[in-house]
Amino acid sequence: MNARISEARASFQTALEKAQTDADLDQVRVQFLSRSGAIANLFEEMRSLPVAEKPALGKLLNVLKFEAQAAFDEKKRTLDASTVRGSDTVDLTLPGRPRPVGTKHPLMQTIDDIKRIFVSMGFSVATGPEIETDYYNFGALNFPADHPARDMQDTFFISKDILLRTHTSPVQIRTMEKQNPPVREIMPGRVYRNEAISARSLVSFYQIEGLYVDQGVTFSDLKGTLVAFARQFYGNDVRFKFRPTFFPFTEPSADMYISCFLCKGKGCRMCKQAGWLEILGSGMVHPHVLKNVGYDTEKYTGFAFGMGIERTASLRYGVDDLRLYYENDVRFLKQF
Ligand code: PHE
Repeated sequence: MNARISEARASFQTALEKAQTDADLDQVRVQFLSRSGAIANLFEEMRSLPVAEKPALGKLLNVLKFEAQAAFDEKKRTLDASTVRGSDTVDLTLPGRPRPVGTKHPLMQTIDDIKRIFVSMGFSVATGPEIETDYYNFGALNFPADHPARDMQDTFFISKDILLRTHTSPVQIRTMEKQNPPVREIMPGRVYRNEAISARSLVSFYQIEGLYVDQGVTFSDLKGTLVAFARQFYGNDVRFKFRPTFFPFTEPSADMYISCFLCKGKGCRMCKQAGWLEILGSGMVHPHVLKNVGYDTEKYTGFAFGMGIERTASLRYGVDDLRLYYENDVRFLKQF
């Protein structure tokens, strides 16, 4: 009987080791641990043996039963854990889960689109520093010292002469200082103004500047270029108008308006009932500015323009709060 118990233990261990699946394991349970299994049979056999032998054999059998059950439970646990990730349950032919890919920020998309249009007209792209001197931001652009014109733009000063640029126009000066006419550049970048943050104004925003200087550049070149831009950007059926305004660095100066594409000029919330939307400031480069960079004002004339990117993007996408561009809320950004 002793030998039979050892045999049962050995074959149980081999069977358990071989078991790879739930089905295998169930077979081991039926074969060894069930009520008609090998171990139960040994208990049954023991009943017919002489009383004197029973206590010792009973003890052996109980140990076998206990150990077998424990080993079986352990095996079942490891098999359960591994079959979840087991190689026979992973289908390697399944397509991968696509990872969401981000898109360009709507402001950068807008800059790209504006750039593309002007580059197709022969402009190239230039940039300049965001930390500027008083000279490049104001002086060279014909803002007289202590003239109220400087109040047009609330400035963040770093020191008396160093400031955060309030517009991209200083890049005009840097570009012209570096090269002789013809100059045909667009200059995108970040600008800063000391203003209360609201739905309509931010302390930091983007502008794109344009500059064309050559012999014989006229106001009709300005209009032709900007109208061609507006048609491509806002659509062929857009109407436009220019209205006189003032900038120290252009003379004459004009703001450009397009007919409100929401209400077609009838007046609505978007255009504040005016029927028109201001899209940019522009003008003929002031001779003082050309003189400041050493250009011959008898020979050369030019035009310049500047537009706010947040405003441009908002007109295009119907965004009514500029702060949305800077909150990085994915629910907002996903829509572009
Ligand atoms: N720099 C002006 C502004 O910030 C825009 C402008 C640029 C106007 C070039 C005329 C010519 O408002």
